[in-house]
Amino acid sequence: MSDAPPSSFTRYPAGGEAFPHKDLTGISELAPWQILYLLDEAEQWVTLNRQATKHVDALAGLTIINAFFENSTRTLLSFEIAGKRLGADVVNMHAAQSSVKKGETLIDTAATLNAMQVDAIVIRHASSGAVRLIADKVDCPVLNAGDGRHEHPTQALLDALTIRQWMRARGEEEFNGLKVAICGDILHSRVARSNILLLSALGAEVRVCAPPALMPAAIEQMRVSPYTNFNEAIDGADVVMMLRLQNERMSGPFIPSAREYRHLYGLTTERLKRAAPHALVMHPGPMNRGVEIDSDVADSIERSAITRQVEMGVAIRMACLDVLTRRARGVPGWEPLKAEETA
Ligand code: CP
Repeated sequence: MSDAPPSSFTRYPAGGEAFPHKDLTGISELAPWQILYLLDEAEQWVTLNRQATKHVDALAGLTIINAFFENSTRTLLSFEIAGKRLGADVVNMHAAQSSVKKGETLIDTAATLNAMQVDAIVIRHASSGAVRLIADKVDCPVLNAGDGRHEHPTQALLDALTIRQWMRARGEEEFNGLKVAICGDILHSRVARSNILLLSALGAEVRVCAPPALMPAAIEQMRVSPYTNFNEAIDGADVVMMLRLQNERMSGPFIPSAREYRHLYGLTTERLKRAAPHALVMHPGPMNRGVEIDSDVADSIERSAITRQVEMGVAIRMACLDVLTRRARGVPGWEPLKAEETA
């Protein structure tokens, strides 16, 4: 990723490709302008999705497979809706009903999908790095819908789109200097990792907060400020992003009890007063109400962006599917841009 100061972004580099990647496996692969490009592309789909008729034929004739080896509600449904609204044929492959259960390897599954001449594969897998493994074996674009504790790039993109819309409603545009506190099970969270990479790439000031046992070693190397005291972490924060305890990725008990966790790390109305008066509350879902977040905060019309995040998820996934299939469709958007399109 470029180390250029975020405030001096070239929006789309002169003579460069609009989006040069075959796959979307992680935010770590994206330059800041490529993140902004995907956010900009998503805006048209936000508009479409708010209309009575939400369908275009951009991806007509294409086949997209959603291969989910782990449970999902939001990501699976939004990728399915995204593909269908773009006119593609969408097939969902659930691992529980697949030959994975009979001992088929991930590579053989990838070769099988590749042989079916599909046009994009969306993958969620419990193993970090599994999505990149498949992306290197198949011809079509592969999109990471969450791999282990590694990355969840479309979640970070939809979070950034949600934040940017909120900033624009307040008359602001730049992520530069925005104070974002990401609080919860940082150790096991792919959402935290992708958001840290994205938000710091765009110039935000990122704080992470977790109990000591749930804080990754050497997290400072990701250009974040670590906190174990929740009250200090959210002090003056513009955005408070809460994460659930990822019990499915824990090898044993990491916290004494859910009750004690809520006492020290739960976002309550009272505790939220420590954040900036305008602070936005976010959560990628699924939520554990009464543990990391109280219902009156999660359901607050003034403060919570949780349902808005879900809405932005469809638009971001439409943008990613559209952009990544342009090369195969032979439409503009991946070849060098014209001079007047560059900043
Ligand atoms: N945020 C998220 O990834 O939710 P799902 O697990 O429901 O897809």
